[in-house]
Amino acid sequence: MDAREFGGTLAWKDRALEALATSRARLLDLLRPLPPAVLVAQHSPLMSPAVWDVAHVANYEEQWLVRALGEPGLSGPETDRLYDAFRTPRGIRGELPLLGVEEAFAYAEQVRTRALRRLEAVNDEDLARTGALLDGGFVYGMVAQHEQQHVETLVATLQLVTSTVLDPLPSEVPLPERSVLVREVHVPGGPFEMGNEEAWAYDNERPRHRVHVPAFFIDRFPVTNGQFLAFMEDGGYANRAHWADAGWAFREAERLEHPLFWRRTRAGWERRRFGTWEPLRLDEPVCHVGWYEADAYARWAGRRLPTEAEWEKAAAATPEGRIRRFPWGDAPPDLSRANLWPQGGHPARGGAFPAGASAFGVEQMIGDVWEWTASDFQPYPGFRAFPYPEYSAVFFGSDYKVLRGGSWAVASDAIRNTFRNWDYPIRRQIFAGLRCARDA
Ligand code: AVJ
Ligand code: FE
Repeated sequence: MDAREFGGTLAWKDRALEALATSRARLLDLLRPLPPAVLVAQHSPLMSPAVWDVAHVANYEEQWLVRALGEPGLSGPETDRLYDAFRTPRGIRGELPLLGVEEAFAYAEQVRTRALRRLEAVNDEDLARTGALLDGGFVYGMVAQHEQQHVETLVATLQLVTSTVLDPLPSEVPLPERSVLVREVHVPGGPFEMGNEEAWAYDNERPRHRVHVPAFFIDRFPVTNGQFLAFMEDGGYANRAHWADAGWAFREAERLEHPLFWRRTRAGWERRRFGTWEPLRLDEPVCHVGWYEADAYARWAGRRLPTEAEWEKAAAATPEGRIRRFPWGDAPPDLSRANLWPQGGHPARGGAFPAGASAFGVEQMIGDVWEWTASDFQPYPGFRAFPYPEYSAVFFGSDYKVLRGGSWAVASDAIRNTFRNWDYPIRRQIFAGLRCARDA
């Protein structure tokens, strides 16, 4: 942990400024070039109109970086209600009297001006008064990560738009020449320190606690399109035996036969990347599968999904029992180690990041695709909701499955080995794939 993170000192202010500036630049770079009609449309009942996300991000910032720090707000209960994710389900947001495009951006800018003025003025007295909210600059990290998470959601929304309004850098990461014959690694059993106590960790990552993880094998790479195609061609979607009960019911109801955004043409399988159909690349990690498909694939392969504890141990632990922030160590992600925004525009081919390997030799755990785990989203022992239960606590239970590692559309401020994402097992519009594991 960085010494600057400890309370009492205000040295986290620079980091807060930088994180806020980075997330805002990304939001504006993504949305500003888009036609207003694209920004106001509700493209799917699963996703908000983009203008809702913009004003929601602004309203969240107003609540936490302005009002919670004792400043008068810019807007009232009407605005709070419109942009409260719990009071307005995603599917109806397009029918609400939302702020227009220019109004939403102006609101975000006004809030940001106040938030930065307040940040400038934060002093030791504020630290004593607000306690944990400002500890290590937590609330600034929370707001910056929240904005980054919404930008990923916006990218997923834009993936649903079939016109070519967006074409994020379809870059090629060169494949290093080396043997990749080893396809899985062994992780020995034993205790492991799971979770995160660093200043900007979310409540659901806390507290760090000891878990005993029996020995297991885990795939060195995420499952590729080619491997998933083998499952399809072997009748995987038609074979009841591979599927969980609820997964089979969903498969039947939706007539699932392939991942979302795939189609078969006379020339072969294609996948749609934003507005463009492209030949399916067999060596790219499979993306846009739900948990039920991931689970069925793993069963077909004679394997299973890793638990969260297994995933995190394979990513974070060293054979000597040390814990790292990223698979490769504590250094922040860079282009040689992980495919995160704004690098890729799509998942990078399996094997593209030898320098991103974990101590156990597992690759591409950070970036490329979120990886479904076997685990339900549950609190760690000793969990305390902070600073509000609607971030994590209200989602705990067996309805949601945990995803780990982040996708190519995630920014580095909002990912680390301990970061937990969650969604319903039927969801496929998120940038999610899998890697397999098995008992040792
Ligand atoms: C962690 C992605 C499930 O989008 O519902 C955004 C993140 N929380 N605003 C979501 C979140 C509050 C959350 N997920
Ligand atoms: Fe939100």
